[in-house]
Amino acid sequence: MTTTPVAGRTTTVAARATDLSKIYGQGETQVVALDRVTVEFRQAEFTAIMGPSGSGKSTLMHCVAGLDTFSSGSVRIGDTELGSLKDKQLTKLRRDKIGFIFQAFNLLPTLTALENITLPMDIAGRKPDKEWLDSVIRMIGLRDRLSHRPAQLSGGQQQRVAVARALASKPDIIFGDEPTGNLDSRSGAEVLGFLRNSVRELGQTVVMVTHDPVAAAYADRVVFLADGRIVDEMYKPTADNVLDFMRLLPGGNPQTPEFDAKGRTS
Ligand SMILES: Nc1ncnc2c1ncn2[C@@H]1O[C@H](COP(=O)(O)OP(=O)(O)OP(=O)(O)O)[C@@H](O)[C@H]1O
Ligand SMILES: [Mg+2]
Repeated sequence: MTTTPVAGRTTTVAARATDLSKIYGQGETQVVALDRVTVEFRQAEFTAIMGPSGSGKSTLMHCVAGLDTFSSGSVRIGDTELGSLKDKQLTKLRRDKIGFIFQAFNLLPTLTALENITLPMDIAGRKPDKEWLDSVIRMIGLRDRLSHRPAQLSGGQQQRVAVARALASKPDIIFGDEPTGNLDSRSGAEVLGFLRNSVRELGQTVVMVTHDPVAAAYADRVVFLADGRIVDEMYKPTADNVLDFMRLLPGGNPQTPEFDAKGRTS
């Protein structure tokens, strides 16, 4: 495995939301899911987004990733203002610049692991950069499983394939909505370690929504949301610090059974 640090690591902003609001419904049923959120995601940084259920984490991620419209404010991916794009251009930007990892792995059962990894590029009619693909595959450590179908892989291995798929096209930024939510703690740790390495070794930018203080501790930074607003952020998080902070948030008592009082996995 290559451990060469990414050259020229800078603080370029990979994505930014400014005064971003998202309001669902109207009148009495109106829900303010995001309330003037301003946040930056810097290149080669791993950010976790945390907060109580319903605080707006998924909404924020979907709006910044161009998967959902917003009510006011603006979103930039790199130098591109999302609000200025037509549907077709937005689809192209999502395809070319953004990688997604969802909780359900979304692998196609009839394709092999390798075919699943390169599928988005095949659809886009693009050739994978072979050297890059090799380094991604080396990092996920599934070289001897590439011809297996998803059903022949463990949950953690499937999720690693999903992570490799997100990385394979060299997106500017990867978004994950609880990417380890369905995994046991060991498989979850594997996937998180892999994401961590992709940031450190490949200079990837990762934004991940999680409920799990242990998962958040893999990130460089945690952004806390409550009631549609950013209430704080923390650098170099530890599971203990994150858990302590979560307890202070309104409705923020994380009730994840697999964690003991200190937020450690059992
Ligand atoms: N399609 C929708 N229509 C109406 N309200 C919605 C819709 N989607 C989300 N909401 C509301 O917006 C708020 C934020 O939802 P969001 O899914 O972003 O929360 P979250 O922080 O991701 O929660 P969780 O941790 O449970 O996934 C919630 O109050 C939710 O009920
Ligand atoms: Mg959510």
